[in-house]
Amino acid sequence: MSGRIPQSFINDLVGKVDIVEVIGSRITLKKTGKNYSGLCPFHNEKTPSFSVSPDRQFFHCFGCQESGTALGFVMLHDRLGFVEAVEALAGSIGLDVPREKNSSPTERQPDSELLEALSKATDFYKTQLRSSEPAKQYLQSRGVSGALARDFQLGYAPAGWQVLESNLNGVTKESLVDAGLVSQSEKGKPYDRFRDRIIFPIRNTRGQIIGFGGRLMASDGGPKYLNSPETQAFKKGEELYGLYEARKSQSRLEKILVVEGYMDVLSLVQSGIANVVATLGTATNETHFQKLFRHTNEIVLCFDGDAAGRQAGWKALERAMPALTDQKQVKLVFLPEAEDPDTLVQKLGAEGFERLLQNSTPGLSYLINKLSEGLDLESLDDKAKFFGLCQPYIEKMKEGILKELFQEKVSNIAGLKTEARSQKRGAQRRHVGLMGSKLEIKLCSYLLKYPDLWSRIKLDNKEEYLYLLNKTPLIGRILEELQNSSCADSEELLVRLMDEPNYEYLMNLARKPLEIDASTIEVEFLEGISRLLTTVKKQDKRKMLENLNQTSSISDLKEFVSLEEKN
Ligand code: GTP
Ligand code: MN
Repeated sequence: MSGRIPQSFINDLVGKVDIVEVIGSRITLKKTGKNYSGLCPFHNEKTPSFSVSPDRQFFHCFGCQESGTALGFVMLHDRLGFVEAVEALAGSIGLDVPREKNSSPTERQPDSELLEALSKATDFYKTQLRSSEPAKQYLQSRGVSGALARDFQLGYAPAGWQVLESNLNGVTKESLVDAGLVSQSEKGKPYDRFRDRIIFPIRNTRGQIIGFGGRLMASDGGPKYLNSPETQAFKKGEELYGLYEARKSQSRLEKILVVEGYMDVLSLVQSGIANVVATLGTATNETHFQKLFRHTNEIVLCFDGDAAGRQAGWKALERAMPALTDQKQVKLVFLPEAEDPDTLVQKLGAEGFERLLQNSTPGLSYLINKLSEGLDLESLDDKAKFFGLCQPYIEKMKEGILKELFQEKVSNIAGLKTEARSQKRGAQRRHVGLMGSKLEIKLCSYLLKYPDLWSRIKLDNKEEYLYLLNKTPLIGRILEELQNSSCADSEELLVRLMDEPNYEYLMNLARKPLEIDASTIEVEFLEGISRLLTTVKKQDKRKMLENLNQTSSISDLKEFVSLEEKN
């Protein structure tokens, strides 16, 4: 089917499905108050930090920070592309997905005629392989079994210039051209693109064939490999050879190995390493990483051991930076010179090759090593230089734990210790240690669990509470948030506090079980907060008196007097 899916349909769809049903049919959810919670499917955990809000039709994991709508969940969980997820979700409530007409040729959804041309060509090439002894022999000589050839739908394009058009029934010349199978000579004469080549069909993650790679069997007679040109269905820089097959072989991919060539993929799969993909003659880019991280948490990039390989590794790492998190990591492995994964796995076997992979370098360690190359990290100048070199890479990273840790590591190496870390954050952290009294922390945990406490309790002078408690770092921010707009949902409150420097601390606090009965919480909270207020007032008064002794300013005096009156 071609054409865009109308945005209105997507909005309606997300409105119509029930997120609790969608998620609940995929993982076990338990009702906890207004929300549902369960073990997060996107990271490993033993206690549930994954929460689904039926009111907001939103999920959020406090462990790995994954969040989104029902549609987002299906994409992540079922590892589907956007269109596939829309289709799956619509199907689950018995809806057909409508398409807009007159879509531009750059639309993601490939044209059905074009796909059909590719599919029929694949069948044709497969048949040709079965009857071509040299082609079969070539694959055999490269260690490809019949079963593997079948799984990857390998084929053979015969030597003629105009074979396809006469052999593919019901496929127009136009769709052959659109599919990149037929080219036009300068004089406008059509000719088959793939001639006398082994054919490697390239599938998208839905299993549709979107293009081909073709390899010469002889060592001369044109470029060794030829790929389909860019077409409406085939964006070379975005696709990964073998991803569909890898996903089919294992539902959960612990890691994905990225190699350079078609034959590397086939050889590794043949030897039993199935979680492998290849870029299509291009460097691994941001789109590749995004795509791969939908299916795995660990990407191992495999490069040749020569200068070009190291260069490629460096480039790839740079491009991976924005996709890295504490959950999503890349590793690099460099092969011995003059070897590629294909030759190496044939020599070492799967076990030997796996051992090699175990020695891969974590991406960030590699980065640090590379950036400090040639620098004397004992010298002050070089330390500063190193720190400067790291900054552009740090800036590329997503906000989060990994970025923080990395920043800290770089600072430590540069001898800056934690001072160089985000000043604000560091300062506020220390502040918490000083100011967050036991009482304050207890009250915060009450509010985090039962945010509606604040609107439930009756206080005559809430403004004063707000004014004074604003001077305490933890509870002040929470009260301010609840005063601005009340909420009864712990998860929502946490989401609203996300930019708070103490967020992680608050999150942990919210997760700890409360050792208090829900029936007495109001009383306890009221008692506690007035005690806190008294303490803060006392501190305030003391500070003001100190100030008074030093400055005696009129405004301070006024404030002091008004406080005295209130007491
Ligand atoms: P084998 O010689 O069959 O083992 O090939 P390989 O898989 O080891 O390929 P190689 O390392 O030479 O190249 C890696 C990848 O780069 C290939 O899989 C192709 O995608 C691409 N490539 C290699 N040679 C060519 C070429 O001549 N033209 C184009 N367009 N791409 C090529
Ligand atoms: Mn090779």
